Amino acid sequence: MPDTEIVIIQSLLRGANEFVSGRCIAEKLGISRVAVWARLEKLKEAGFIFEAVRHKGYRLIEEPPELYGPLLRAYLGLHECEVNILCFPEIDSTNSEAERQIADGRKTPFAVLSSCQRRGRGRQGRRWHSPEEGNLYLSLAFQPQMSPRDMQLFTLWMGVRLCRYLKEFCGLPLSLKWPNDLVLDGKKVGGILTEARIDSDSTRDLIFGFGLNVNGRCEDWPESIARGATSLANVKGERIPINPLAARLIKIALNAYEDFCRGFALEEFMTLWERFDFLKGKNVRARGKKGAICGVAEGIAEDGALRLRTEDGNMETLWAGEVSLGTAETFVPEIA
Ligand code: BTN
Repeated sequence: MPDTEIVIIQSLLRGANEFVSGRCIAEKLGISRVAVWARLEKLKEAGFIFEAVRHKGYRLIEEPPELYGPLLRAYLGLHECEVNILCFPEIDSTNSEAERQIADGRKTPFAVLSSCQRRGRGRQGRRWHSPEEGNLYLSLAFQPQMSPRDMQLFTLWMGVRLCRYLKEFCGLPLSLKWPNDLVLDGKKVGGILTEARIDSDSTRDLIFGFGLNVNGRCEDWPESIARGATSLANVKGERIPINPLAARLIKIALNAYEDFCRGFALEEFMTLWERFDFLKGKNVRARGKKGAICGVAEGIAEDGALRLRTEDGNMETLWAGEVSLGTAETFVPEIA
């Protein structure tokens, strides 16, 4: 049944705005034309809208606005991307589900997606606001032969590749705020959480989690979130079809992962980082293991550490931590 659904959807997607005859689809599937019609009726319940014209066939008018597994699989098929995907209307966290799937023996790579997370996780133990309103919560699970030291570079690398695609796809000026925030219009539009299980000196299970505010309505968010966050649709002024976007992002992420494993392309990475670096040349205040540092951001070092030129002219590097915009004067240290 699901395969039949995917073949029908793919035939209509391939037809673009043209009519596709019911007979053609029926022959492809080895079923009757009435059976094709019955499947299309079922697909209508999932939110598809078709136009049916006698002697011409069917034309896809509208696809479901929300994530829909068979449609996502149909798009992945069109991009010749064979990855196994698990799509949930609601979940605690896609990263947690990926962990559970690995523990149950599911073969990697695979992707877990959801339209709503009840316990979405962010970096530094924070919560990731994940309401059901057309955003994307995606985790990709891998089992690489990777040194734990490479994880930071891996996450930054994935970030620049996704950012480049999103910029081209949406035509929006996205950038990356070190280490893993996607920024649009000076506000956060997405974030990355890479989690790993490390055995002795090797990364065994690697879960790349990516949250992207696609169609979220900022006016409905709690004030504390709305102040610093936005969505692609909010800036673009129109809803973005989530299924083709999710399929593309999965493909981009899988390619980026494979490229990373084949051998890290440092030069390409540095060029991309420079292109998308949100912090470059800005006054920032950072909180790392060494405490608080203020300075002007000067890109990143080859190991992915943030470079900060402090007031006394020294260059400090920060390997992990939190960064916000501002100078020493505007910086209020947090009271423990
Ligand atoms: C951040 O703090 O900026 C990282 C946010 C990462 C959120 C994504 S949503 C999909 C995946 N599942 C989670 O629970 N978290 C990540």
